[in-house]
Amino acid sequence: LVLHGPNLNLLGSREPDVYGSFSLEELDQRLADRASTRGIELRCLQSNHEGALIDALHEAGAGAADVVLLNAGGLTHTSVSLRDAVVASGLPVIEVHLSNVAARESFRHVSLIAPVVVGQVTGFGLESYLLALDGAIATVQARRS
Ligand code: DQA
Repeated sequence: LVLHGPNLNLLGSREPDVYGSFSLEELDQRLADRASTRGIELRCLQSNHEGALIDALHEAGAGAADVVLLNAGGLTHTSVSLRDAVVASGLPVIEVHLSNVAARESFRHVSLIAPVVVGQVTGFGLESYLLALDGAIATVQARRS
């Protein structure tokens, strides 16, 4: 499961100098292409609503997914509830950011999610997601072997 949080539906038009000029559809397509070459079933979901992201994590944890890529957008820095949902899912979750959050405003330096994820991929633009997908596959394979 790939979960995109608030404002990521605006990719392409939103601060393209920071986030890139590709759309969310293009990003999801690149991920789907990579997933299909690896024989992986991928589902992508974007929501601007914290509760919808939490619901998706609950469903994933109930069996709808093996691993989650999560770009929680601004909720990364604020949401205890989303962090709790990551833990409750019981799944390996990989935190993804397009931009290098550590090189930006200080309020972006704190991730409430970081302590409860497998790892973070941040700062590589669209490649962050592709790298995270490779990490997700490796994580699932390691847990199965
Ligand atoms: C982001 C970084 C967040 O700080 C920001 O609020 C976003 C996008 C990223 O992908 O770089 O919405 O998660």
